Amino acid sequence: MNRRIFLVSAGSAGLAVASGATAFALTRTPTRALLPWSEAGASRSDPRRFVVEHAVLAPNPHNRQPWIVELTGPETMTLFCDPERRLPHTDPFDRQIVIGLGCFVEIASLAATAIGYRLEVTPFPDGEPQPRLDQRPVAHLRLVRQAATAPDPLFAVIRNRRSTKRPFDMARPVPSAALASLTAQSGPLAAVSTVTDSARVAPVRDLTWQAWGIEAQTKRTHMESVELMRIGRCEIEANPDGISLGGPMLEGLALVGQLSREQLADTGSAAFRQGADMYRAMLAATPAYLTVLSPDRSRAAELDAGRVYVRANLEATRLGLSMHPVSQALQEFEEMAETRRQLDDVLGAPPSGRLHMLARLGYGPAVGETPRWAAATRIRTA
Ligand SMILES: Cc1cc2nc3c(=O)[nH]c(=O)nc-3n(C[C@H](O)[C@H](O)[C@H](O)COP(=O)(O)O)c2cc1C
Repeated sequence: MNRRIFLVSAGSAGLAVASGATAFALTRTPTRALLPWSEAGASRSDPRRFVVEHAVLAPNPHNRQPWIVELTGPETMTLFCDPERRLPHTDPFDRQIVIGLGCFVEIASLAATAIGYRLEVTPFPDGEPQPRLDQRPVAHLRLVRQAATAPDPLFAVIRNRRSTKRPFDMARPVPSAALASLTAQSGPLAAVSTVTDSARVAPVRDLTWQAWGIEAQTKRTHMESVELMRIGRCEIEANPDGISLGGPMLEGLALVGQLSREQLADTGSAAFRQGADMYRAMLAATPAYLTVLSPDRSRAAELDAGRVYVRANLEATRLGLSMHPVSQALQEFEEMAETRRQLDDVLGAPPSGRLHMLARLGYGPAVGETPRWAAATRIRTA
């Protein structure tokens, strides 16, 4: 479940607890956990660190930030997946984790263009691990100096990109020129499409809600989320990843015992029901979708799906649009199989291919940054 919004609803009755407590509110921002957003690019003298400082801002499932970068030479790096940061229940084959690593690679590549480099990417240089990732590298990355290169226009919006987990404006359709520039982000292994006609949007909406319920009512997948919840500033600062439930309102509720991991784990609780209602309303407020579909089921295609997805997310940012991935219906755990099949049917995904991303698309409100581990904590030297 996703996740910020889920808890925003977890007890609006307790709102009064925090209201008016301005001094309290001012101390609740997880300042250190948000520093990577303002410090990206501080290491201008080392191109490897410069690109990694931007790449850690990539979208990724459950904000697990599964990347580890080994500096192997003055202009070379190897990208690994941290095996502890995978999501074995909701992502049993590490597919979504690889997509997140693809987002990381693409942002690194955009950042390279800002300092006169091109990023050469060799995916899975020691072979593609199946059915799960192993210790083999995800990619070799080499920075190649480019004479007279201009920064990619998407570089400028890396810090403004968000996953907007909020209702979108149903009275404002996405203009066709914007749809065209989103689909233009397609690559050879990952095609971007959009769904805008109501006859197709409506069944997709229903399936996203159905899938949300299946994930929430399946104990092990629900608990995977609950265990990654960081409640309040101290927990977020200690672990700036996972599902952060911060801000004065939620922290106030936690202080008066109205918000805890135990309550969230209990799908019979009032807090859970309120959260579900809010999530349903958010999913309903979706005028369009963006999908990323790959022609085959290779790891290279998963990585490319991430690259293409984040380019679309950045292009949407540039155009003032919002996006929000809704991945439950795409997940491979057994209980989701029938819903996934129905979604593939509605979207016309061929059996040999793979629908890798489904995201809500429209005009949403401005939202804040999510926490990140500092880039330096994700870098090791060979
Ligand atoms: C492969 C992938 C799957 C995701 N699935 C979901 C999802 O199902 N629901 C959701 O709310 N966010 C989803 N997200 C968005 C992440 O939660 C988000 O990227 C992360 O929390 C960091 O926030 P940011 O994108 O605003 O920086 C997904 C992101 C990726 C890359």
